[in-house]
Amino acid sequence: MERTKEQWSSKFGFIMAAAGSAIGLGNLWKFPYVTGTNGGAVFLIVYIVFLILLGLPILLSELAIGRFAGLDAVNSCNKIGKNWGFVGGIGVVTAFLILGTYSVVGGWVIKYILSSFHIEKMTPEYYVEYLKTSFEPSIYTLIFIILTAVVVLGGVSKGIEKVSSILLPTLFVLFVGLMIYSLTLPNAIEGVKFFLVPNFDGITTFSDFASIAINAMGQVFFSLSLGMGTLITYGSYLPKTENLTKSTATIITLDTIIAIIAGLTILPAVFSIGLEPTSGSGLLFQTLPAVFAKIPAGKIVSFIFFSLILVAALTSSISLLQVIVAWFSNALKLSQKKATLIISGFIAVVSLFSSLSLGVFSDVKFFGMTFFDILSFLSDKIMLPLGGLFISILVGYVWGIKPAANEISNEGKLKFKMEKLYNISIKIIAPVLIVIIFISSII
Ligand code: TRP
Repeated sequence: MERTKEQWSSKFGFIMAAAGSAIGLGNLWKFPYVTGTNGGAVFLIVYIVFLILLGLPILLSELAIGRFAGLDAVNSCNKIGKNWGFVGGIGVVTAFLILGTYSVVGGWVIKYILSSFHIEKMTPEYYVEYLKTSFEPSIYTLIFIILTAVVVLGGVSKGIEKVSSILLPTLFVLFVGLMIYSLTLPNAIEGVKFFLVPNFDGITTFSDFASIAINAMGQVFFSLSLGMGTLITYGSYLPKTENLTKSTATIITLDTIIAIIAGLTILPAVFSIGLEPTSGSGLLFQTLPAVFAKIPAGKIVSFIFFSLILVAALTSSISLLQVIVAWFSNALKLSQKKATLIISGFIAVVSLFSSLSLGVFSDVKFFGMTFFDILSFLSDKIMLPLGGLFISILVGYVWGIKPAANEISNEGKLKFKMEKLYNISIKIIAPVLIVIIFISSII
């Protein structure tokens, strides 16, 4: 099969698109609440350790696979190892699962942008009642899918790259402002302490620790968009001159800075108004409006804040959709446009069920979980780490470190200083760690 012709138009554009994929609801919605429910600073430390041990080598590998093969996730994996296309296939399925919850939360964000001007009504109870209404959340979910599809319809360099290059820097600047604001709220220091000073009180048993580990691992994969072919797909549009190690370091740094800024914005605000950081997935939607309702110019702050979150969510959802579209348009020889329209239709169906599973169908449970919870459990804690495991085996043992290092060093034109470290990480540390965490979470 021939390489995809599509390419990023600039280095900056690629970094913005890849960082835009990484930075999203994972950083702004999930990271603060998962940190909140997993012991604060202790979670942060484990997260950063996994970022280095798992995130770094796997991210670099995905970019290398994609750029070497120059094809969609399924065909790239197939080119690297005969019959390994299934790894990309798992990725395509996982993209559906993730979009099934991502669009729903993206829909809530749109609702909260529009509700900013009567933010005092957006109480924690309102959020619960709102989900039950079913109809409105479904409509906003569809609107989020349409917005995502519109960008992807534009293609890679004209759609995804252009939109990310403008929106991501804006997000950075405005979020820093918001963080400074949040840090000056009364009692904000308690939130900072919770986030940055480890407290091992609640972590006594093996199972406490195992649960933190599996959550941190899931968060690393989710936040960096790893384990399902997003970065294989984005890597396939890269020119042979791009420095992959540098790109990897930049993407991880940007993603982590935004996650920390989000923690330093949301947790101090939560403590400042005397709420608990452990309230779970509602943290962003239940506690922040309460903050905005109390502060001066809260309506405007709320409007800006939720708009930023929408922007971040969109630059991620487009990357999820593009993985499926790239594969589907190749497999059926369809244009990017046709493939986008058809796939978006399927995603709308999954997402509507997911949205309604928190509303009218909230009594329908599998293993005690709603459909929404199942999608999120399967993707974060099973499919993504599994994808990461297969990618490390594919690169370490099937493709081999030498050919991979050859791609990473642009065929010897650059020095790949960390080759030895990369070798150990991808062959041993990453796969062993993933398997250990899997097993310990089952025990
Ligand atoms: N990383 C994004 C976030 O933090 C979500 C995302 C985009 C993603 N593409 C992905 C997650 C691929 C896992 C895999 O919100």
